[in-house]
Amino acid sequence: MPDPIRLAVLASGGGSTLQNLIDRIAAGRLAAAIALVIAGRPEIGAADRARAAGLPVEVIDARGFADVDAFSDRVFGAVRAADASLVCLAGWLRLLRVPPDFAGRVLNIHPALLPAFGGRGMYGRRVHEAVIAHGCRLSGCTVHVVDDAYDNGPIILQRACPVAPDDTPESLARRVFCLECDAYPEAIELFRAGRLRVEGRRVVIAPA
Ligand code: GRF
Repeated sequence: MPDPIRLAVLASGGGSTLQNLIDRIAAGRLAAAIALVIAGRPEIGAADRARAAGLPVEVIDARGFADVDAFSDRVFGAVRAADASLVCLAGWLRLLRVPPDFAGRVLNIHPALLPAFGGRGMYGRRVHEAVIAHGCRLSGCTVHVVDDAYDNGPIILQRACPVAPDDTPESLARRVFCLECDAYPEAIELFRAGRLRVEGRRVVIAPA
């Protein structure tokens, strides 16, 4: 196993994405260590899951800060203090301003094929509802580099799946989540191995 990369995982919700990373690491299938979990609110499933796994948790609630800059300073201060070299958003709902030393080192996973069905307010069940309402035949997930706008940064990888005629938001969410469980660890491994290079809007993946 190569040297593990130190991750800071930022979560605002139930923590299924965080749990997947915890499980992959425990199974020896992802060369990473979670140095810190930042919970966007105190009473969330993600914080419980992190504590249950014995991980350090810091609650940083955006409501206690004057603006995005002050909030981001606090978040990235904690990330630096934990000596994390990659930040993984995992169901994180707050806008961040990415500081220069973390440009290209913050990733997000979104449960749709961006740039469709992303942006402010597009999270959780709402995404799958919108995909079904629009009559899409395909959905999937996107792992991307985070910039200063919601769901906007350069795309690292995408995985697609069919939308079935009788899908509910829940059944579609389950199908997409299966894709997410492989896609996020895969993108983290590409980053760890130094194989990602951002060129404008495009991410170039170097051969293994
Ligand atoms: C996932 O669908 C992921 O794509 C998104 O948040 C969802 C998971 O939330 N960004 P959580 O990890 O259960 O809180």
